[in-house]
Amino acid sequence: MSDAWDPATYRKFAGERRQPFHDLLALLDAPVESAVDLGCGPGELTRLAADLLGTRAMVGIDNSESMLVDSGEHVRDGVSFEFGDIGTWTAAAAFDLVLANASLQWVPDHPTVLRRWTAAIKPGGQLAVQVPANANMASHTVAGEIAHREPFLSAFGADGPPGDPVEDNVLEPEQYAALLYELGFTDQHVRLQVYPHVLASSRSVVDWVRGTTLTRFQRRLDADMFAAFVNAYENRLIEVIGEHVPYFFPFRRILMWGRRGD
Ligand SMILES: C[S@@+](CC[C@H](N)C(=O)[O-])C[C@H]1O[C@@H](n2cnc3c(N)ncnc32)[C@H](O)[C@@H]1O
Repeated sequence: MSDAWDPATYRKFAGERRQPFHDLLALLDAPVESAVDLGCGPGELTRLAADLLGTRAMVGIDNSESMLVDSGEHVRDGVSFEFGDIGTWTAAAAFDLVLANASLQWVPDHPTVLRRWTAAIKPGGQLAVQVPANANMASHTVAGEIAHREPFLSAFGADGPPGDPVEDNVLEPEQYAALLYELGFTDQHVRLQVYPHVLASSRSVVDWVRGTTLTRFQRRLDADMFAAFVNAYENRLIEVIGEHVPYFFPFRRILMWGRRGD
């Protein structure tokens, strides 16, 4: 399987992606002595979190080689990066904070995964997670529709097209709240927030999803077939959402924070 993550494509909307990250950090009590950033991506937000939270030992974990190469730029004393799979990752009460911004949606079975992440938090430590909750938006539904059309359907072979991780994996806000309670978080804050992005045009949505949700199709198609897929996606998307300049792109996200009991 190729690594379809491209830090440069992902960074195109760095400004828009930064706001939920800051909102997540605003839920935390600082300073935070030690932290892990799961699904850290290209690393700039990992380092920023360490700077803003006064963290002396911060480790970013990701399973994309291309993201980890870029994260090298953000290594400093007390900030390091490692290869790892956040779906199975755990550690024995090792951190004051487990942070995950826009990464949990990529792995299934959130009750099990959050149980493992919670085990890595010291008593009294914090969890802060942000996930997109936008599977119902045209940006996502159109991708699934195109994947089930020929010639793409056949190109995916016997396994069929990849499912939408946001649709398959992300739970409702109240389910996360119940989970945090069950996992022993004595304080918590869970909310659904709509981010009101204004993009240059409707077609900018294509650039946005190329850096995220379309990576799952890119991994499974050759370059020509993926180019045809993106073209078909763009045409259908414009039929569904219309041609607008600029384009208002509302984006639902779930933010959750919890503090473990002592
Ligand atoms: C949307 S990016 C978010 C990056 C960063 N947290 C940020 O906010 O900019 C999602 C990241 O999760 C990583 N990721 C996805 N599945 C993963 C897994 N199973 N294990 C480790 N990292 C994973 C991807 O490689 C990617 O870097």
